Amino acid sequence: MASARGEFSSRLGFVLAAAGSAVGLGNIWNFPTQAASNGGAAFLLVYLVLAFTLAYPALMAELIIGRHAHANAVQALQRISPNAPVRMFGRTAGLIGLAVASLILSFYGIVAGWMIAFCISSFASVLGLESVSAWLVSFGFARNVIFMLLFMGLTIAIISRGVQDGIERWSARLMPMLILTLVLLVIYVLTLDGASEGLKVYLLPDFHRALSPDLILRAMGSSFFSLSLGVGTMLIYGSYIDDSQNLPLVGGMVTLVDISIAVLAGFLVLPAMYVALHNGVEIFGPGGELLSEDTLVFSVLPELFTTMGPTGVLVSILFFFLMTIAALTSSISMLEVPVAYCIEEHNVSRKTGVYAIGGAIAAFSTVILLNFDTLFGFVISLTTRYSEPLLGFVFCVYAGWILHRDKLLQELRKGNPGIEQGLFWKIWPWWVRVVCPTVILAIFAQSIWG
Ligand code: PHE
Repeated sequence: MASARGEFSSRLGFVLAAAGSAVGLGNIWNFPTQAASNGGAAFLLVYLVLAFTLAYPALMAELIIGRHAHANAVQALQRISPNAPVRMFGRTAGLIGLAVASLILSFYGIVAGWMIAFCISSFASVLGLESVSAWLVSFGFARNVIFMLLFMGLTIAIISRGVQDGIERWSARLMPMLILTLVLLVIYVLTLDGASEGLKVYLLPDFHRALSPDLILRAMGSSFFSLSLGVGTMLIYGSYIDDSQNLPLVGGMVTLVDISIAVLAGFLVLPAMYVALHNGVEIFGPGGELLSEDTLVFSVLPELFTTMGPTGVLVSILFFFLMTIAALTSSISMLEVPVAYCIEEHNVSRKTGVYAIGGAIAAFSTVILLNFDTLFGFVISLTTRYSEPLLGFVFCVYAGWILHRDKLLQELRKGNPGIEQGLFWKIWPWWVRVVCPTVILAIFAQSIWG
């Protein structure tokens, strides 16, 4: 039964929603292109190791704090604090998380809007509306604002319906669609000429590149972004899990789905790039390096689709549809962070909170679009490079040092009475106390002084 503040109805409901949050543009857009430029399978290996040793324990920190407090990040961090200064610090960290989630949504909404525009552009070309189709894929303020607003409207519509009717129901509808579309595209692209070259780049490891310290630090940043950590998203989703669920198990499932989809997306994007090369589309810059991520997605892939004739149109529609769904199941989780706080702390109704906050974020996205050259890249690096690792650090410290060990054990025992005998309890508590904070600080130091 759903409690007054909302609750996922089942384990599957939670896993689909949390995996929906995790699987986003980060997996399908960022991960494969990074792997392509940085040593293929060696990068993949580094990424896998980091995802299990750093991102999974940090995800558990958020899930445990969230379910223990059954509250949003601001209140949860305050509730587990033993005294006033720590409470004050927790409150501030929670509020920063809320701001960062909103800022991430403000640029994510813009990129997701482009995905919708590219998808509709392919439809328009099927109907012979060539000028409309060309307008939809050319960079311009009007197009950018219209599609950002459309995407934000979809996000707002889902979140206004609450945890079960909105987040859970839509994640359960969209995630299977996402997986099916991805699998179909992978199968199709792998049959094309040139795909095997891409597979080679993806699957043959070049350890020389993947083991450079800078790259390891970057891979850690992406694994944080990919698992939606360090903004309170997983904390709030954790707060909607009922007490009978085994947290390490559900957290493990979410991590596995997230990683598997990133790896699978690699089997689509890398071969597709080399099919494009085979069809005469340039994928390398003048210095022989791979083109940047956004050029690959918004120019190389569409060019590839045009070289494929009528099938290309269908593949293009499917590809950008896939990107839109992936973005939507993530954007709803970002909007839920400030919305849950407003409902719980300021007693506003969900609808009022969603419209006010969603509207404010859309207004800020418009400001970014008006000052695109200065703000777009700045907001991305401020949130993903600096704020996420730092707040991830705070969550690990709260789970490891501030939440009492007995309370941690009590929380974990709820869904698994024998947890003390298992490997998780033997390793995780000291790992999240010592290893995670140290490593995260190293990432942070690297982003500032590296
Ligand atoms: N995990 C999402 C992705 O990979 C991004 C995200 C970050 C979602 C932070 C929620 C919170 O695209």
